[in-house]
Amino acid sequence: MQPRNLITVRNLNPEEINHLYELFKGFKEGRKEVLGGKGVLLFLESSTRTRLSFEMALRELGMDTYYVGKGESSVEKGETFKDTLRTLHALGFDVVVFRVPFVLFPYEPYLNLGISLVNGGDGTHQHPTQGLIELFTVMEHYPSIEGLKVLFVGDILHSRVFRSSGELFRKLGARLGVCGPATLIPSDLSPFGEVEVFDSVDEGIEWADLVVYLRLQEERFKESYVASKESYFLQFGLTRERYKKLKGYFMHPGPVHPYVDVDGDVLYAEKSLVSEQVRNGIPTRKAVIYYLLRG
Ligand code: CP
Repeated sequence: MQPRNLITVRNLNPEEINHLYELFKGFKEGRKEVLGGKGVLLFLESSTRTRLSFEMALRELGMDTYYVGKGESSVEKGETFKDTLRTLHALGFDVVVFRVPFVLFPYEPYLNLGISLVNGGDGTHQHPTQGLIELFTVMEHYPSIEGLKVLFVGDILHSRVFRSSGELFRKLGARLGVCGPATLIPSDLSPFGEVEVFDSVDEGIEWADLVVYLRLQEERFKESYVASKESYFLQFGLTRERYKKLKGYFMHPGPVHPYVDVDGDVLYAEKSLVSEQVRNGIPTRKAVIYYLLRG
C-alpha cells in the first residue's frame, strides 16, 4: 500500500473532513491509540505551535519522534528535498512532518517515496493542519458552517493559512470575505469561488459572523506593502472599538503581532478563539496522523 499524504486541503472532500472531525473529537475526549513507528519533524523554517503540537501528537500516538531544524539538515548543503525524503525513508521513518520556506508544487514527484508526507506549512502555498484547526474550532462554536460569513483580514497574498482555511470553509459551504491593503489582496481569488472584497474593515466586520485575522508576513515581503505598522493597525487592525462590534468570534492562527494585527488588550478576551486554536492543535494533528497511517 502506498503511504498516504496531506500536502494540500484541495484533496480533502467533505466526507473526509467530517471523518477527521470525528477523530479530532475522539482524541479530544481522551481516545487512546498506539501507532508505534517513527516520525521526523523536518522544520527548515521557524515554528512554535506547529512544531510542538505535532511532536506532542506523534508522541501521544506512541511514535518515536526526531527533530531536524533550520540549518541542521543537508538540504542546506544542496541535497534536494526529494533525496532528503528518500534518505528519511531509508532510515526507517514512517512519516515526515515538514515545514519549508518554499512552495512544494507540483508535489507529485515527492509522493510514493515510501514515507507519508504531512505539510506543516510550505511557503505561501498551504498549511493544511492549521486550516483544519480553524475549521474544527469553529465547528465547536457555531451550529453550522453552511452559509457562515467568514472574513479574513490582513496579508491574504502571502497567507498559506488563508489558502488552507479559506478552502476548507468554502468546501463546507461558508461564504468568504477578504479585507486588507490592496497590495496584499491576490488579484485572482477565483479558486475560492465568490469572495466578497471589502476596502473597509468596519464594513467587513458588520458583514461577518466570524473574523480571522492574519499576520503581515514580512519575511515574505519583496517590497514594502504597507506605509507603516501604525497606519496599518488603525486602518485594518482589530482595535478595541472594532472588537466591541464583532457579531461572533475572532481567530488568529498566530504568531500574533499585538497592536499591528490585534489590540493586545482584546487578544485573549471573550470573543477570542486564539488560545483554543492552539489547544486544538494537538487533537487535530493526532487525527491527521492517525488517519494517514491507519486509514
Ligand atoms: N500558526 C503557525 O503555524 O504557527 P507557528 O509558526 O508557531 O507554527
